[in-house]
Amino acid sequence: MEQYVIRGGNPLVGEVEIGGAKNAALAILAASIMTDETVTIDNIPDVRDVNALLQAMSDIGARIDRVDAHTVKITGSSVRDISVDYDSMKKIRASYYLLGALLGKYKHAEVTLPGGCNIGSRPMDLHIKGFRALGADVQIRNGAVAAEAQKLKGSHIYLDKVSVGATINIMMAAAMAEGKTTIENAAKEPHVVDVANFLNSMGANIRGAGTDVIRIVGVENLHKTEYSVIPDQIEAGTFMFAAAATKGDVTVKNVIPKHLEATSAKLLEAGCEIEELDDAVRVVASKPLRHTQVTTLPYPGFPTDMQPQMSVVLGIAQGTSTVTESIFENRFKYVDELTRMGADIKVESNIAIISGVKGYTGARVSAPDLRAGAALVIAGLSAEGTTIVDDIHYIQRGYEAFEEKLEKLGAQIRRVQTEKEIQKFHFKAV
Ligand code: EPZ
Repeated sequence: MEQYVIRGGNPLVGEVEIGGAKNAALAILAASIMTDETVTIDNIPDVRDVNALLQAMSDIGARIDRVDAHTVKITGSSVRDISVDYDSMKKIRASYYLLGALLGKYKHAEVTLPGGCNIGSRPMDLHIKGFRALGADVQIRNGAVAAEAQKLKGSHIYLDKVSVGATINIMMAAAMAEGKTTIENAAKEPHVVDVANFLNSMGANIRGAGTDVIRIVGVENLHKTEYSVIPDQIEAGTFMFAAAATKGDVTVKNVIPKHLEATSAKLLEAGCEIEELDDAVRVVASKPLRHTQVTTLPYPGFPTDMQPQMSVVLGIAQGTSTVTESIFENRFKYVDELTRMGADIKVESNIAIISGVKGYTGARVSAPDLRAGAALVIAGLSAEGTTIVDDIHYIQRGYEAFEEKLEKLGAQIRRVQTEKEIQKFHFKAV
């Protein structure tokens, strides 16, 4: 299995280009099969999750033409199969977006239930509630969600919880339903807006994305489009936290600063200087880091996908901080690994009480999931000595050229396959 080997202590300095948003790209790729014409999408990140979804779409018959690492042409007219199998779903849970897309277009879809993951049980009850409200008969049988409708009729849907996935999936199904649909208590994440803009560029009629009430007037058909995915605010934020943890000076480029406001605000509270430019944000961490309080919330609150990275920074800040995880029930698994690097963190229910320590020390740790894995890399970059991060396949699901981008900022990090290679870098194995 691949690992990262990191020799910590170098401040990260310089500029890093941020790629397309993984979580916007996944939904947009799925939605692209809702027209029979060819759709061109660029600024997609070349990451495992995106490549796994493209494979799943090819498996059901969509024609996929990968123009280059970041551009793809998709033609949905050749879709023959409306069911997404277990293997595809196990590789990429966002295949569940094909449920909304296939139901919206073909009025029939069957997708394996994704099941839980390392951060929580990840239910789909709100997705199903929305599809049923639109008139679909939805059954869960043999480990799959089967949705079918003679026709879909617009409806008034209230989401009991703010859910990005349910908002997007229902928006897709409603885009080609008859009549008007209102989604109340909708998620407002930038990638929800991006998917709505994408669907509108195909001829859909969606208003209000980015607010908690989205209004959709169904249309008969959707047509071809050329679309560019928004920048990835989570990749950007991850590099911003890496700058803070290593006392560096990093400018993240190709970003929409507004999408990073909650992250910038917390880094300011923690003692960093933030400079916002048109399409870039600069983080300078020259002063000692200070404690603060964080609660993860739906957008525009502090993103849950940035929670592990924030905790790593607070773990070496002066004073005691608290991080409250209000979205997922099991998103502190990295704390045990961070403790092995010297962190002093106590988790009580969904709150982490973090007593800042002087610094981390290198250790051998294992990435429990995508964002926690990236957070452990940040800890290794700031640690004294050498850190080895196992299970980095999680990280490669959502970060393109992660180690290359970090190396360009001055990090000593290598991706290795064997223990022998670890020795080769003359790191004292810990
Ligand atoms: C998306 O997951 C992202 N994934 C997640 O990013 C992100 O953490 C999450 O949104 C929150 O921002 C993708 O976009 C592929 P939710 P999603 O539905 O849509 C509950 C990453 O690191 N819920 O907004 O699955 C759910 O259990 C990943 O890139 C229900 O109860 O998240 C959670 O507590 C990790 N019933 C809350 O809502 C449902 O039917 C928010 O989940 C659906 C969700």
